[in-house]
Amino acid sequence: MAAELIRFGVAMDADLLARFDEHIEKRGYATRSEALRDLVRADLAAAHVADGGLAAATLTVVYDHHVRELTEKLNEMQHELGEHVVSTLHVHLDHDHCLEVIVLRGPSNVLKEAADRILATKGVENGKLVITAMPATTHEHSHHHHDDHGHRHD
Ligand code: NI
Repeated sequence: MAAELIRFGVAMDADLLARFDEHIEKRGYATRSEALRDLVRADLAAAHVADGGLAAATLTVVYDHHVRELTEKLNEMQHELGEHVVSTLHVHLDHDHCLEVIVLRGPSNVLKEAADRILATKGVENGKLVITAMPATTHEHSHHHHDDHGHRHD
């Protein structure tokens, strides 16, 4: 499903372009076009997530399992999230600490609220949510006006 490629000119301050070229070379990009496409995709994905669009995420938490009822609380919160929890990886880090990676999918605002609640729970020592737009949704948006290519994105 190769979409039509369109060339367009971009006017940019020479100094800004020089810095961009240096930056993308370090990052391993072969061409400016490739780097620009990734920037555009990242920005669209960020906007999609910011607008409460469908997202996929991992929430990593490190917690002290000796804290009273914490394990039960975390378990209960995940049950409340229902189908938004895709999978959970649990590692017994050391004598006191557990690391959990919770894979989530759903509306970004639901996932962010759930992550905030889990991270704010007493006994959760640190953690981080990494959230990105569902590939299917950005893919669909990227060629929303070309509905003639004979496959579906559900
Ligand atoms: Ni554990």
